[in-house]
Amino acid sequence: MYRSSALTAAVLSLAASSVLAQISPAKLQSTGFNSSFTLTPSQIESAGLSGTVATSFENVIRFERSQLANGGPYEDDFYALPPLSNSSDSLKPGVLLKVQPFTNASSFTLAPNTALSRILYTTTDFNGTVIPASAFVLWPFTPRQFNKKPSREARGQKALGDDNSTNKPATSAPVVLWTHGTSGFFPSAAPSTNRNLWYGNAAPFTLALAGYAVVAPDYAGLGVRGSWDGSKIPHQYLASPAGAHDALYALRAAWAAFPGRLSEEYVVMGHSQGGGVAWGTAELLGEFAGGDDVSRGYLGAIAASPTTDLFAGSSPIVVAWVGMALRSIFPDFDPAAWLTPAGAARMALYRAVEGQVGAWQQLALGADAVQTVRDDYYTATWHAGAYAALANAGRKAFRGPLMVLQGTADVYIPYEVTSATVEATCAEVEGDLEYVVVNGTGHVPTLDAARQIWLRWIEERFEGKPVERSGCVRTDVQSFLPLDRYQATGTWFEQWAGAGEYSYQTILGL
Ligand SMILES: *[C@@H]1O[C@H](CO)[C@@H](O)[C@H](O)[C@H]1NC(C)=O
Ligand SMILES: *[C@@H]1O[C@H](CO)[C@@H](O)[C@H](O)[C@H]1NC(C)=O
Ligand SMILES: *[C@@H]1O[C@H](CO)[C@@H](O)[C@H](O)[C@H]1NC(C)=O
Ligand SMILES: *[C@@H]1O[C@H](CO)[C@@H](O)[C@H](O)[C@H]1NC(C)=O
Ligand SMILES: *[C@@H]1O[C@H](CO)[C@@H](O)[C@H](O)[C@H]1NC(C)=O
Ligand SMILES: *[C@@H]1O[C@H](CO)[C@@H](O)[C@H](O)[C@H]1NC(C)=O
Repeated sequence: MYRSSALTAAVLSLAASSVLAQISPAKLQSTGFNSSFTLTPSQIESAGLSGTVATSFENVIRFERSQLANGGPYEDDFYALPPLSNSSDSLKPGVLLKVQPFTNASSFTLAPNTALSRILYTTTDFNGTVIPASAFVLWPFTPRQFNKKPSREARGQKALGDDNSTNKPATSAPVVLWTHGTSGFFPSAAPSTNRNLWYGNAAPFTLALAGYAVVAPDYAGLGVRGSWDGSKIPHQYLASPAGAHDALYALRAAWAAFPGRLSEEYVVMGHSQGGGVAWGTAELLGEFAGGDDVSRGYLGAIAASPTTDLFAGSSPIVVAWVGMALRSIFPDFDPAAWLTPAGAARMALYRAVEGQVGAWQQLALGADAVQTVRDDYYTATWHAGAYAALANAGRKAFRGPLMVLQGTADVYIPYEVTSATVEATCAEVEGDLEYVVVNGTGHVPTLDAARQIWLRWIEERFEGKPVERSGCVRTDVQSFLPLDRYQATGTWFEQWAGAGEYSYQTILGL
């Protein structure tokens, strides 16, 4: 005991002396440390902002821009589109355009001992036009290995590995195709450029640390900003079929980028906007004409807090965001049609500076809140109902098994809305759908509360186990301790401390 702690002390002091000799002076850090964004007086005036809102908006924009690794897509060469090759292949969806096998993550806030790669690839927009998009792959240090491969009978096709291969070092990592929740609407909102990949510990880090390779589309319009002809790529917000195409084509391109390193089998998992995309992917796979490759390896989908009924119980902030996307689908739609004049003025500023989620919240819900969305937006034009019918996930045939995960205290995606979609889906179509309801948890924190449940579900799919109960079933999850003892909301985020002057903020500085 004495000897070992003396040895530890000696090792620590040796390490400390060599580190201490090199450390930088410590500086206090603000969350807006890498941006000095300031509104001009005319921007403040034309958007009708009070001094308080203007300052809040500036603070949030500084924060949002400080979350961009290497300055984001407007500065990072990775997002520059390579020339269109003369081969007709490049105009097909799912084609790999660029690979960055090693993404230098020194300006990200990745979980230690994960590794990042990024790709550009082709996908299609809602109406089928081929466009470029970006995605990341987050790699595990040690890929998870499974005891049993799915049998031929269980999957109805060729087994992917030999039974005796499990004791060898893994050559491929098991894939979770991760579809993220709302990050924003403009290029800089791409998770692949966000220091914590946008969902950080809530899902991608957790998955990589559990031994999965996380393949994650940014969704078209986030990341790559223009197509080859110079046209701007819109982010078709909440169009779950468009996101599903982005996801499956990203997976195909990732396989091409890293031959043999990513398992052919995969589980799709997403949250919120991405919960709708994950569910939409399960629907698309039921009918996907795009290829056997993505169809063959599919093991199931997890749709957490999914968007299934866009305008039911939807906050006006979501309505304003959806409005931005509609012109690319319905060319006659006027984005100002759903907004009040004050809302339109604020939206013009928001679009000009390409704010993200928090910036619009300040403009729409902040100190001197104005009404931004018209009360009669739904009936003011015909587009809302038509878009919901095209964009919503649920109430359609899907390829299972599907887990739908929902917290009862979710204010963004109400429990009642998801329950109604699950009920209608189960009444209308057949399939294995497990509805997991977590009592008392909110929107993103449901992922934390239910972590063991979804990790086990993913593991069982890779092990080839059939779902425990077939058909439509419900599981209720209660907290272990009384609910009111739990910290219900997030009170932290991954703050970058990668420069010498901030390194005192990490555990032991290394
Ligand atoms: C800080 O922002 C600048 C300007 O956008 C960018 O070039 C730089 O890479 C950023 N620093 C880090 C550490 O990401
Ligand atoms: C495409 O073909 C033209 C004519 O053959 C050639 O000049 C051009 O360099 C090619 N571009 C690429 C990107 O291969
Ligand atoms: C990553 O980038 C940092 C900052 O530019 C640099 O110091 C470091 O050497 C790079 N790492 C590798 C492995 O290239
Ligand atoms: C097991 O490993 C051997 C040697 O690599 C190989 O020949 C055989 O096909 C593998 N599969 C099974 C099911 O035995
Ligand atoms: C896109 O598809 C929708 C649904 O089929 C259709 O209503 C719309 O007009 C199409 N838009 C474009 C730009 O082709
Ligand atoms: C949820 O938890 C609360 C508080 O612990 C309890 O009173 C309630 O019955 C639970 N609801 C359900 C549907 O289990």
